[in-house]
Amino acid sequence: MAFWHKKQKSAEGESLDLTRLPGHIAIIMDGNGRWAKKRGLPRTAGHAAGAETFRTIAYHCRDLGIPYLTVYAFSTENWKRPVEEVSTIMDLLHKYLLEALEKMERDGFCIKFFGDLSALPLELRDLCLETEQTGAAVSGAKYQINVCLNYGGRDEILRAARTWAQEILAGHQKIEDLTEEVFSRYLDSRGVPDPDLIIRPSGELRLSNFLPWQSAYAEFYFTDVLWPDFSPAVLDTALADFQRRQRRFGGV
Ligand code: FPP
Repeated sequence: MAFWHKKQKSAEGESLDLTRLPGHIAIIMDGNGRWAKKRGLPRTAGHAAGAETFRTIAYHCRDLGIPYLTVYAFSTENWKRPVEEVSTIMDLLHKYLLEALEKMERDGFCIKFFGDLSALPLELRDLCLETEQTGAAVSGAKYQINVCLNYGGRDEILRAARTWAQEILAGHQKIEDLTEEVFSRYLDSRGVPDPDLIIRPSGELRLSNFLPWQSAYAEFYFTDVLWPDFSPAVLDTALADFQRRQRRFGGV
């Protein structure tokens, strides 16, 4: 991991306080299609460029010492896209997971998946499980990447509710014991702190079913930059903006 001074300048020359960074950043990687269209390229080229940006930003977060990064790679609604586009995204995931498998131990990170993996092509599903298992064994991993894959926030909550209800029926849980903390343990994000900062590039101002439970007290950062053009400098600007926010969590 890179050695950092306590202060660093963002792209706009703002000072970043490296002792007050978010513990968990979540990103909706949006704008790949528009990026490609602007260049007269097929949408699939936008996803390929977006995947490269994912790698760059993932390493930048790790180098800053941010413990958790969550990315929205494929939603439960994305199956509605043309078959060729869906299969390109699946192929990219396959390629980048193979690379991650190789580098996890060396680079000290692990990967988890949020979402219903049962609908994925079998080979990709097996690779996801292998990636999770290998990551769990990485000694001293201080950095976790969560990839949301066939993920929808409402679907996540429904799956959690079903599992909880089954435990009620089996007599392992009691209705009166259900708290937010207990319910959180049934979500895909179990064990992961809620995101502090949610970033959406590409100019869209919505959450699109991304982490609705976990985002209750998150700060949001929106930018018109399209995801393939999103750079470490843009992330630093988002972080500087985050550091100017006053978070009250419902208090005064
Ligand atoms: C949204 O942009 C992007 C996606 C639905 C796919 C994101 C996938 C990747 C970046 C590649 C694989 C990921 C990893 C983690 C290696 P859009 O297509 O909706 O863009 P548009 O709104 O401009 O059409």
